[in-house]
Amino acid sequence: MNNFVLKGNIIYTPSFGELKVYENGFLVCEDNLVQGVYNKLPEKFEKLGLFDFTDKIIIPGLIDAHLHAPQFAFMGMGMDLQLLEWLETYTFKEERKYSDLEYAEEAYEYFVEELTKSFTTRISAFSTIHKDSTLLLMDKLEKRGFKGFVGKVNMDTNSPSYLSESTKVSVRDTIDFIEESLSRFNGIKPIITPRFAISCSEELLNELGNIAEKYCLPIQSHLSENVDEIKWVKELFSNIKCYADVYDRFNLFNDKTLMAHCVYPNEEEYKLMRDKKITAVHCPVSNMNIASGISPVRKLIENGINVTLGTDVAGGSTLSMIKVISDSIQNSKLKYLFTDKQDMFLSPTEGLFLATKANERIFGKVGSFEPGYEFDALVIDDSLLGNIKGVKLVNRLERVVSRAVFSHIKAKFISGKRVI
Ligand code: GUN
Ligand code: FE
Repeated sequence: MNNFVLKGNIIYTPSFGELKVYENGFLVCEDNLVQGVYNKLPEKFEKLGLFDFTDKIIIPGLIDAHLHAPQFAFMGMGMDLQLLEWLETYTFKEERKYSDLEYAEEAYEYFVEELTKSFTTRISAFSTIHKDSTLLLMDKLEKRGFKGFVGKVNMDTNSPSYLSESTKVSVRDTIDFIEESLSRFNGIKPIITPRFAISCSEELLNELGNIAEKYCLPIQSHLSENVDEIKWVKELFSNIKCYADVYDRFNLFNDKTLMAHCVYPNEEEYKLMRDKKITAVHCPVSNMNIASGISPVRKLIENGINVTLGTDVAGGSTLSMIKVISDSIQNSKLKYLFTDKQDMFLSPTEGLFLATKANERIFGKVGSFEPGYEFDALVIDDSLLGNIKGVKLVNRLERVVSRAVFSHIKAKFISGKRVI
């Protein structure tokens, strides 16, 4: 039983574009869930422990819906190539090192330590093709109190021999990884992870679709990220109307699917994404770093597609989901200009929603302070960003969204457990 109260400036987004603000209000946690938010604390909660964060800002924990844990080791380096060359030159060479458990132990420890200091409370991460180091990563995340998903990556074709599995081994290791992780971990769950259509044979994609269905697991992959990538997919798979068709054909496209990037959807792809209720993960930092493009976020949303945000480390050069929100806003302003002001840019309130409650479809009831939501919260000391006296809370939130860094975090709770 974990019951307590936080006092502070409570801010959250119950729906897209809607902001709720409680100035020095009370946020009650009961059994690791949000019990309610109050301007005045009801008497029955007065005997609970109170964390007094008067004047600080309290927002829901941020969710990183797409990142590559093994790539953290070279984050910020090798930003001079576009996707396919970047994978061949830097990324695959780093990922091969995770066949060595000693290397994985050190690199994943550093990754999880840094993630603990960050704004992130939940993740959906790719590991590598290696089962044992994937389980090691999950163990470390679970021990630090994180929640979310980790996927052993599948690659059996169009990949270097040092980072490729036979179809048979890929399937066997995926099943072993699922069964072992389901029996060992509670907060960190397995997710089916074909790297992208290019790196998986039709036979493997078919098997992965069957496994996802059998174990009722979510799915994550990449979609329409880069122009050369899309061209290659069309060469590899004949008779497809769009890139997404490949995933759809193999039962990998449903309401439990996360598709990273979606920078270049065509009309068929918009329709398929909406009809199959997939979640698009917008990764603006990565899209700029490896020059993939500017995602049509507003158009995705207006087409009824659920959109969330991800760092996409190490295409993305930051673990900060605050930076991802602010870059998503800046990116959308370029799109606004390039569409002759047709695609309206995102507001900070909208950006906050994408990094929190928009994740509900995949992560369950989390990302909001409405009653019954899992208690994930961040306490941010924005007095370190400048004057707070007389500044409106909505303006302080704007400043947090564009400028807060990890050292401004005073407390972090995941499912009611304090981790900072
Ligand atoms: N597409 C296939 N693999 C990757 C990867 O590791 N990063 C990104 N950004 N895109 C990919
Ligand atoms: Fe990625």
